[in-house]
Amino acid sequence: MYLVAPLTTFLFLSFGSLASPRLFDQLQQLGAANILNLVLHPNVPQQQASYDFIIVGAGAAGCALAARLSENPNWRVALIEAGGVENFVHLTPVMAGYLQSTASNWNYKSVPQRLSCWGMHNNECALPRGKVLGGTSAINYMIYNRGNRHDFDAWAQRGNHGWSYAEVLPYFLRSESAQLQGLEHSPYHNHSGPLNVEDVKFRSQMVHAFVDASVQAGHPRTDYNGQTQLGVSYVQANTLNGRRHSAFSAYIRPIRNQRSNLHIFPFSRVNRVLIESATKSAYGVEFVYKNKKYTFKTRREVILSAGAFNSPQLLMLSGIGPADNLKAIGVPLVQALPVGRRLYDHMCHFGPTFVVNTTGQTIYSTRVPIAETLTYLLAGNPNTRLSSIGGVESLAFLKSPRSKLPKDWPDLELILVAGSLASDDGTGLKQGANFKDEIYDTLYRQLERNQQDHFTLLVMQFHPKSVGRLWLRDANPASWPIIDPKYFLDPEDVEFLLDGIKESIRISKMPALQAIGARLLDRLVPGCESHRFASDDYWRCSIRTLSYTLHHQVATCRMGPATDPTAVVSSQLKVHGMRRLRVVDTSVIPLPPTAHTNAAAFMIGEKAADLIRGEWN
Ligand SMILES: Cc1cc2nc3c(=O)[nH]c(=O)nc-3n(C[C@H](O)[C@H](O)[C@H](O)COP(=O)(O)OP(=O)(O)OC[C@H]3O[C@@H](n4cnc5c(N)ncnc54)[C@H](O)[C@@H]3O)c2cc1C
Ligand SMILES: *[C@@H]1O[C@H](CO)[C@@H](O)[C@H](O)[C@H]1NC(C)=O
Ligand SMILES: *[C@@H]1O[C@H](CO)[C@@H](O)[C@H](O)[C@H]1NC(C)=O
Repeated sequence: MYLVAPLTTFLFLSFGSLASPRLFDQLQQLGAANILNLVLHPNVPQQQASYDFIIVGAGAAGCALAARLSENPNWRVALIEAGGVENFVHLTPVMAGYLQSTASNWNYKSVPQRLSCWGMHNNECALPRGKVLGGTSAINYMIYNRGNRHDFDAWAQRGNHGWSYAEVLPYFLRSESAQLQGLEHSPYHNHSGPLNVEDVKFRSQMVHAFVDASVQAGHPRTDYNGQTQLGVSYVQANTLNGRRHSAFSAYIRPIRNQRSNLHIFPFSRVNRVLIESATKSAYGVEFVYKNKKYTFKTRREVILSAGAFNSPQLLMLSGIGPADNLKAIGVPLVQALPVGRRLYDHMCHFGPTFVVNTTGQTIYSTRVPIAETLTYLLAGNPNTRLSSIGGVESLAFLKSPRSKLPKDWPDLELILVAGSLASDDGTGLKQGANFKDEIYDTLYRQLERNQQDHFTLLVMQFHPKSVGRLWLRDANPASWPIIDPKYFLDPEDVEFLLDGIKESIRISKMPALQAIGARLLDRLVPGCESHRFASDDYWRCSIRTLSYTLHHQVATCRMGPATDPTAVVSSQLKVHGMRRLRVVDTSVIPLPPTAHTNAAAFMIGEKAADLIRGEWN
């Protein structure tokens, strides 16, 4: 028996049975009581209230920072967040793809791309971002991945003292509470931090076949957060007993009722930082709550943790940014800095997709057997496909033959997804990524109709040469920033992805995957019909059409010494030339990392807390 039209049924099930005492326990466990409390009784802002620290944005970095700074009972901390609160859909990992179609997404789009996103409406790549307590960690795919030691050593080599691998590892550990089978004694994992990291409890037959086939193809089993990254692993997830563990669930929910010095303001959107121009000193923020303007003052610092798109936007709205752009939109210049002048991201190819001869292994979020839904919801059982993190099951880290980097520094990642766009019958995933109907109908519709088992290997390039840019269209804080990621401007980026596609096809030919009959889905990508299927030029066309970012935008408020003309913040995360103003989030990451970026956001929040305590204690 299947649940069709899951979202409504699911919500109905969740809310409809509030009367059941067992379910009430479940809600308590989910923190729903706390969450409801926050919706019903948000802190009402007091005009001109004064705080020691004002943190803008309750995302991954912002929540970690707020939790750590408020450990000091003498410091009053305000955490201001534009979005609302998480609900059951956020907490249920298999629903990850739907969240991009909700109000928890800022819903940005890129400017039309000439060289990528040909399969998207108007060539606009979707650039989702979390707008909710927990930020992007509340709508992401929950993959926990820190990065390569060379990444951080490269940050340090650029003059960012204190950010080498040896120096940041303690902060990754401080945030982590790992429950990973076989890694109980690994020195690379901690078991008592706030953020849970666990194995996904539901695994398809396909992931076992993929891991085995990767080993047969010469890729060793590894812990990609451990000693060496290269090889293949089952994914490590930011979930707790099969429920999403967002920044808010991990860092704030457990403490918020015990800390009267931490004030959280959801539904409050910051317009600008208030700056005393003579001293270039931040003294507060202006924000809007329920259509009314408020100001908060700070005794110590304003900290922007608004993410890789909104932190640069807020700096520019406050007069800190490129002189030409600020002049064009009529914002008086306070400090000229290259804010938004650099934007790196990790562009992927959504595929190849492989058809297999198993049954019932592909994760169709629309057709979770009702028994699994009930045991997950009512008994809290995490061993069901509802705890699958949007279908992501395994990661493999690879070298490309064209690599110029050291041999233990991967160039490519394969991400095994136990499905495709068909996994939700062409609803949330297709819409979230802005895919044209034609793409869905041609490539995936038949898989969905036949309930054909299949999996997709997303190929991701870690170190792209293409660099994008972000700037403002006008001085209205409610306008979208203009985002031009310029994906694949450097054609070598496409060649790297082509190498990854070839390797994924080679892996599919290994005995373990052949045993489940794995073969390439051979439907032609619309727009690429003139090329011979699976020829290099066919894949190049497919790469530019099925361009799918994994949303690892960084460097828009790049960290670097004052002598670096591309730098916005110092290694103390202070905005150059300014006082009492820092940026603490993924926008400071100077180079594209060999990782998904959520773990690094927590690390940055943890480390910033130490930097700030070191200065003010
Ligand atoms: C769909 C998706 C899937 C992803 N999957 C993964 C994954 O599986 N693993 C992984 O490691 N990474 C993933 N990422 C990336 C990762 O989640 C982010 O890089 C990371 O969470 C960013 O953290 P942050 O603290 O920099 O910013 P965010 O978490 O984005 O936090 C910024 C916060 O500031 C708030 N804000 C912004 N502007 C204002 C304003 N003016 N006033 C008040 N509040 C404001 C926002 O609403 C938001 O809550 C994914 C990203 C997306 C979009
Ligand atoms: C583990 O996390 C706790 C809590 O953050 C921290 O106090 C401890 O030092 C961490 N342990 C290691 C080995 O880093
Ligand atoms: C799947 O295909 C493989 C290889 O052709 C075959 O050995 C196996 O028996 C097939 N399994 C099923 C269930 O059809």
